[in-house]
Parts: sequence; structure tokens; C-alpha cells
Amino acid sequence: MIFVNYKTYEQGSGINAVNLTKILEEVARQSQIKIIPVVQVIDAEAIITSTTLEIWVQHIDPISYGAHTGWTLPEEVARIGVSGVFLNHSEHKFNNFDNLYTANEKAMNANLKTLIFATDTPELRKVCDLAPTYVAYEPAELVGSTTTSVAQAKPEIISLAAEIANGFDIPLVVGAGIHSSEDIRKSLSLGATGFAVATDIVKAEDPRKELTELTEGFK
Ligand code: G3P
Repeated sequence: MIFVNYKTYEQGSGINAVNLTKILEEVARQSQIKIIPVVQVIDAEAIITSTTLEIWVQHIDPISYGAHTGWTLPEEVARIGVSGVFLNHSEHKFNNFDNLYTANEKAMNANLKTLIFATDTPELRKVCDLAPTYVAYEPAELVGSTTTSVAQAKPEIISLAAEIANGFDIPLVVGAGIHSSEDIRKSLSLGATGFAVATDIVKAEDPRKELTELTEGFK
């Protein structure tokens, strides 16, 4: 399973997001690897109507209907057909654990799957306690790297993270700088079950080629 995080890259916004999703869908069909686009809320509905892939969004807020100007409601994200949501990404962290707890609970109550990020293993232990659908280990300092991946720089932490996530029976996703089939192969051998990738796919000159290469790491 590969989550492709479109972030707010121009290549992953608006019509570009719709077109990128078509490429991801073709690679998913050819490789038989589950690919999940994680898109901006503003683009989600247009993308959902043009793909058969499961679509996630990058954040929701810990609120219900009411006076919350500019926030994103989990119920409305679910209503338009979104399947799941990232929470606590290092680029959009909750300012306290209670808000993360509430966001996860409200998302799950709205029938959204959740993936909660942790930047280190102490945080991973805490977020596992919230029983999300997936947890992710993503060291913030390697996010966006085009040269050094989490698999290259932190293999021993991936093993420890897998041990922690296994203890809670939650699948472990890893991310940050993932850019080769070898990154995928190595992380799988260390206990990861899925990946979160952005730069290598979204900013690629040829996203199809890059994503195909990553899927080969599963073979
Ligand atoms: O959510 C995944 C993302 O943060 C990883 O980013 O650019 O290091 O693949 P990147």
C-alpha cells in the first residue's frame, strides 16, 4: 500500500490533481498494489467522481456542526465520499494531544479511516493508544529529501516502530524521502506494511515511471 500525499504542491492541485490521480489509478491496476491518493479537501469531490481509487484527505478538525469558521468537518468530508484522513502530519500537527484524540474519534465516528503520524517512537507509542486504522513513522527532518530516505537513515527505528505498532495490532506505514524500490524492499523487511510518499511522485517529471519503480519493491 502506498499513500501518495499531494500536499499543496501545484502538481497536486486542481486539474493537475485530477490528472495525477488517473496516472496513479493506471499504475495501481497494472501493479495490483493498493495506491491511495491523499488530496486537498478542496479537490476531493472532483477527484472522487473521476476515479475508482479510494481517496483520502490530508487533515480534518476536531469539531462537529456549529460555529467554527474556516475549519473542516469530518462529517462533510465523509459525505462527499472520502474514505480516510491523515492526522498529525509533521506539517499540520495538533497543538495538543486532546485535540488529536478528538479528531481521531470524530473521524472514526464519521466512518473515516485514520492514519496518525508520529515523528519518533515515544510519540508513536502515544498515538497507537488512540487505535487509529494505521500509524505512520515519519522523521520530520527527512521529509522532502530527494537523496536520503527513512529506510536508509533510520533502519533500526523502523524495526522498533514495527515492534511497537505490532504490539497494538496496527499496520505501520513509513515515510520521508522514500524514492526507490530498494527503500520499499528494505522497509518491508524491517516490518513496515505501507508507505507515505510525496516528492518522489508528485514532483516527478514522470510520476508513472517513479510510482511503477516503487511498486516493484513489493515483488
Ligand atoms: O506524507 C508523506 C510525506 O510527508 C513524505 O514526503 O516528500 O518525503 O516523500 P516526502
